[in-house]
This record gives sequence, C-alpha cells and structure tokens, in this order.
Amino acid sequence: MRLGVNIDHIATLRNQREGNEPEPVFAAGLAEFGGANGIVCHLREDRRHIKDRDLNLLKQTVQTHLNLEMAATDEMVEIALKVKPDMCTLVPEKREELTTEGGLDAVFLFDHISQLVNTLKDNNIVVSLFINPEIGHVKAAVRMKADFIELHTGAYADAEDEKNADLELGNIASMAIAAHKLGLRVSAGHGLKYYNVRRVAKLEFIEELNIGHSIVARAAMIGMEQAVRDMIALIK
Ligand code: PXP
Repeated sequence: MRLGVNIDHIATLRNQREGNEPEPVFAAGLAEFGGANGIVCHLREDRRHIKDRDLNLLKQTVQTHLNLEMAATDEMVEIALKVKPDMCTLVPEKREELTTEGGLDAVFLFDHISQLVNTLKDNNIVVSLFINPEIGHVKAAVRMKADFIELHTGAYADAEDEKNADLELGNIASMAIAAHKLGLRVSAGHGLKYYNVRRVAKLEFIEELNIGHSIVARAAMIGMEQAVRDMIALIK
C-alpha cells in the first residue's frame, strides 16, 4: 500500500498570517523523509491553501510522485499542462465547501470530463477521477479511459455508527473489485484517520491511500513539545 500525503493544510496554516511559515515545500520534503510515496496538493480556484508558487516549487522538489488535485476546468488543465505533475486527480469543487464534499459526477459530466482526460493523457499525465463508490461512476471512468479512480472514503469515515461504517466499507470494497476487473487502478481517500484507516488499507486492489488533514493535525501535536522546548531555550 502506498501513501500519498496531502499537504494542503500546511498551506492553510501558512496563509493565516500571509507569511512564509510553515512552508509546504519543506513539509513535502519531510513527508518524503518519513516514507511518503507521493505528495498530493489541491490547487483550488480560490487559492485558499496551495498557491501557484507552491505547485511550481513542488514540481521542482518532490522526489517521489506529485499528484495534483484540481477541478475539471480549462484554467486548471492549462496549469497542469505547464507544470506537468505525474498525476492529475479531477475533483469536484464548490467555493463554499470546507473540503471536497462529494465525488465527481462522472456520469452527468461525461463529455466534459472525457475531453479533459484525453488532453491530460495526451500530455503524458496519469489521470485519476475522484468518485463516490458507485458503479455508474466506475463504469463512466472506464469509458473515459481514466487510468485510476480514487474512491471517496468520506461516507465511511463519517458514518454515524458501526453498521453504517460496515455498509460504506462494503461499498468501497466492491467498487475496488469492480474497477480492478474493468481495468482501472484504484486509490482511496478523504477523512481517513489513524483510527479508521486500517480497515481500508486491508481492502484488495486499492494501491494507494491519500491522506491529509489527520497527518497534518498529528504533526502539529507531536511537534508541539519540542517546539516549546526550543522557544524556552532561546528566551531563558
Ligand atoms: N483525496 C482527495 C481527492 C481529496 O480532495 C482530499 C482532500 O483534499 C483527500 C484525499 C485528503 O482528505 P483528508 O484531508 O480528509 O485526509
């Protein structure tokens, strides 16, 4: 199982003060030192976390694999063709959402997304579609000739009780099998945490998990003690 580390919220923290720390590129390097198989970032239309500068620097410095999450828009495709990340993951995007809420509607937006998939693939960029674990979207991804799907694990992660979590996990498991049978490669992510990740990591045919918020949150916690010690050493 590979781990892609999403560093968007290092940028969120940096942007709070409009300064230059913490530096997302530095965090990406440390994530790689820690064993990350890839770095993921989402350049949003409103640039609320990752900015164009960050993406350009990540392209120059990431040693493993760079996965750019982006909306299915002409602006983003133009940027992707310039920067050439290893992979683009097409995601839905709404301005008012806190985070990516649902999967891409690969059925309804078939023609539009198909065209973008072709353009990206023609430029040697591996394409993934972030979709809900539903067979219609899996089949649409196959027809579009996407390379990967990323199964949205949010409904599993946010399930109110164990019964619903089991149901949602079952969906993810069967969509991973279906996608694999139909020739797609499969990753998964969203809302995964230290306490709920293992059941997803055990599923067959999922090659990679993309995780952001909980890793950044834990990094802030486990680094706190040392950060305070360092400051005390300076002011004593
Ligand atoms: N995968 C996709 C496509 C996402 O949009 C996100 C959130 O940016 C993630 C994975 C990571 O989700 P989380 O931050 O909840 O781990």
